[in-house]
Amino acid sequence: MKNTIQFQKMKQENEKITMLTAYDYPSAKMAEDSKIDMILVGDSLGMVVLGYNSTIEVTVNDMIHHGKAVTRGAPNTFTVVDMPFMSYHLSLEKAMESAQKMMQQTNAQALKVEGASKETLRLVERLTEAGVPIVGHLGLTPQSVHVLGGYRIQGKDKKTAEKLISDAKSLEESGAFSVVLECVPDLLAAHISKKLSIPTIGIGAGKSCDGQVLVFHDILQYGVEFKPSFVKVYHELDNDIKKAVEQYHNEVKSKTFPDSSHTFAMDKQLAKELKL
Ligand code: KIV
Ligand code: NA
Repeated sequence: MKNTIQFQKMKQENEKITMLTAYDYPSAKMAEDSKIDMILVGDSLGMVVLGYNSTIEVTVNDMIHHGKAVTRGAPNTFTVVDMPFMSYHLSLEKAMESAQKMMQQTNAQALKVEGASKETLRLVERLTEAGVPIVGHLGLTPQSVHVLGGYRIQGKDKKTAEKLISDAKSLEESGAFSVVLECVPDLLAAHISKKLSIPTIGIGAGKSCDGQVLVFHDILQYGVEFKPSFVKVYHELDNDIKKAVEQYHNEVKSKTFPDSSHTFAMDKQLAKELKL
């Protein structure tokens, strides 16, 4: 399993870090088998696998339930779990309790928090001190979608660009070992990546980030309705799955499944004895 020191070294040596989300045992297993450097149990699971409208409905227990499945599927891959909506905003003590519960019950190696408010920076410091490596998350922070006014690119004007740069620096100073930059113009992400000594992981943030993260179901076009422009689809699983499921349905209807090769034949002697 890679660790925070190695991720730092990968940045220094200009080796890109691969991160992919996983939400359950099979996706985690496939990520590990594919040698993905770091797994994110993203709260995007609310939308991707639970059918919620946003990440706002996701709870600590949702994250624990899925986090556990992921660490069972990828026991040898560094796994980060998202702290969900408002699980770290009520008070520092409550945030620490959520974090403790998530770390102890999921068996993950790190947690991720969105934003860089004074309180969140203090939390990053406290958690790091307590032995919990923290990934920051700046730019488009989906837990704040209603404040941001939608899922849109961030840091497009001088004020917000400068704030992004200083927030990233603050996260590093508070002890975060990495920062996700989501939906940020390429040159801004490049500048932040150069300014920080910790690795940046980009999503819709260009190629200069120290690593990239994408959503498992997005790169496989697996049950997702909307494809953001920054997502590259590597395989259109939906088509394959639909074809297979339809074929199964049709073969049962047409009585071509099951055939003899998918059937347990009865012992002839016994069948005779029982008069079958
Ligand atoms: O929840 C998630 O999947 C994320 C990534 C997109 C960074 O936070
Ligand atoms: Na997330």
